[in-house]
Amino acid sequence: MERGHTLFLTRLVLLILVTVTTCECQIHGSRANQAETLMEFRRSRKYQTRVSMVSEDMLTESGLGEMKTDDSGRKMDDDYIHEGLPGQPLSTLSIFKQYAGYINVDRVNGRSLFYYFVEALDDPSSKPLVLWLNGGPGCSSLGVGAMLEIGPFGVNPDGKTLYTRRYSWNKVANILFLESPAGVGFSYSNTTSDYDLSGDKRTAMDSYAFLVNWFRRFPHFKNSDFLIMGESYAGFYIPELAGVVIKKNMEGQSSSIINIKGIMIGNGIMNEDTDDKGFNDYLWSHALISDEIYTKLTQNCSNAVNSEYCKNLEEELGEEIGDIDLYNIYGPTCPRLPHGLTVRKKRHSGLDPCEGNYVEAYLNLPNVQKAFHANVTKLSYPWATCSKLIVKWKDSPKTMFPIYKRLIALGLRILLYSGDVDAVVPVCGTRYSIDAMNLKVIKPWRFWTDATKQVAGYKVVYDGLTFATVRGAGHEVPRFQPRQAFALVKMFLANRD
Ligand SMILES: *[C@@H]1O[C@H](CO)[C@@H](O)[C@H](O)[C@H]1NC(C)=O
Ligand SMILES: *[C@@H]1O[C@H](CO)[C@@H](O)[C@H](O)[C@H]1NC(C)=O
Repeated sequence: MERGHTLFLTRLVLLILVTVTTCECQIHGSRANQAETLMEFRRSRKYQTRVSMVSEDMLTESGLGEMKTDDSGRKMDDDYIHEGLPGQPLSTLSIFKQYAGYINVDRVNGRSLFYYFVEALDDPSSKPLVLWLNGGPGCSSLGVGAMLEIGPFGVNPDGKTLYTRRYSWNKVANILFLESPAGVGFSYSNTTSDYDLSGDKRTAMDSYAFLVNWFRRFPHFKNSDFLIMGESYAGFYIPELAGVVIKKNMEGQSSSIINIKGIMIGNGIMNEDTDDKGFNDYLWSHALISDEIYTKLTQNCSNAVNSEYCKNLEEELGEEIGDIDLYNIYGPTCPRLPHGLTVRKKRHSGLDPCEGNYVEAYLNLPNVQKAFHANVTKLSYPWATCSKLIVKWKDSPKTMFPIYKRLIALGLRILLYSGDVDAVVPVCGTRYSIDAMNLKVIKPWRFWTDATKQVAGYKVVYDGLTFATVRGAGHEVPRFQPRQAFALVKMFLANRD
């Protein structure tokens, strides 16, 4: 199911049926992966009474709520994964440390967030600390970020054993994967009504509470350079969280100061109008839709409108495009077979499009959950790549521009990168967004190269942020072009450009 895009139409119809009665964003519950979730979310946001946009700029908001203290009494050593993960290649045992567990972020309701932490391969104390966030909203940084993209291991087709990822980012940093918000993956709330109150603002506040308490459990990383990275809907989470961290740093006691240095976001959403324009233009310019549909989309549906006409148009659009992987448009799709059957796809440039299924199988094994110290309250539902519990979303701003402007003014290091074969949050949308921010160009458009000296993409340095493309990469850049993505993160961490 992980790669199914024929469901595009059915889901759209379902989505419309369930959304008419509410004024909040509905995310339909059956989506399987990060990109589908984002598509549905954007559609739902567009076709209904707008969500309350309270978090337009969290930096200027007062009353972000008081800091919550984790009261679980757990120590770092309690979270240490002593024996390694089940199925982990023996050669990798004990060459770097792994931890996993929970940080409570709300005692009253019983909300607790799950993390997986991988120390850097060599000399962790000298390496930066990276928080990695996936999007959705509602998708797992453990299942997507760690297992499919940048973590030390991927899952083999047997769903039980792991392989070593060649370009794991723990070669250059300590990586902290957070399943956020509560309801995603192993993160939970003991008050189930919490799930319907999910939204950008609470996600940022819970993530901040998580961080402060995580640093209390891992105090020796407190002075490490701290960076937040991620992709997709995390294009909202990341600037929002960075904003909260900086605001809290400015007003807080020195004991809770977080040494934030930068943010790096891949194929992230930024601003509704430019993202939508980018989506339409990308589909047309990559020969995925007809002139007729394109004309109708741009002439009649360019602004958020509440019309049957535009919804029908999206159905037609889905029919025109057919069953391709919209977030890696030239890539293979995972065939859907009767339950329990899998085919070993021929590897397409090293990529197995069904790997998400193996990850889902792996993370539902009882011995794997035990090793991760996960599922401690015996969740009554299986681990899923994207949450089936979070079906409403309370607040999501229209734009990140005000937060970006402020982060830039504060001197935070920012890299926006874009895999150029993703149609969901396509490179042209990101370019329209950056253009709309009117930043001065410092170093104009130029190619950049990876370790093999081949052109890996293109780069522009603006006054305030750097934009880079990654050639031939889909929505999840490190998954589709791992070598180039690795070069990019190295470059960013070394603070070159
Ligand atoms: C949630 O409830 C379980 C079972 O009562 C308890 O063990 C756990 O500590 C609670 N979690 C939080 C964060 O309060
Ligand atoms: C679409 O836009 C064109 C040009 O603005 C207009 O002539 C046409 O009536 C519109 N069609 C619909 C269905 O709104």
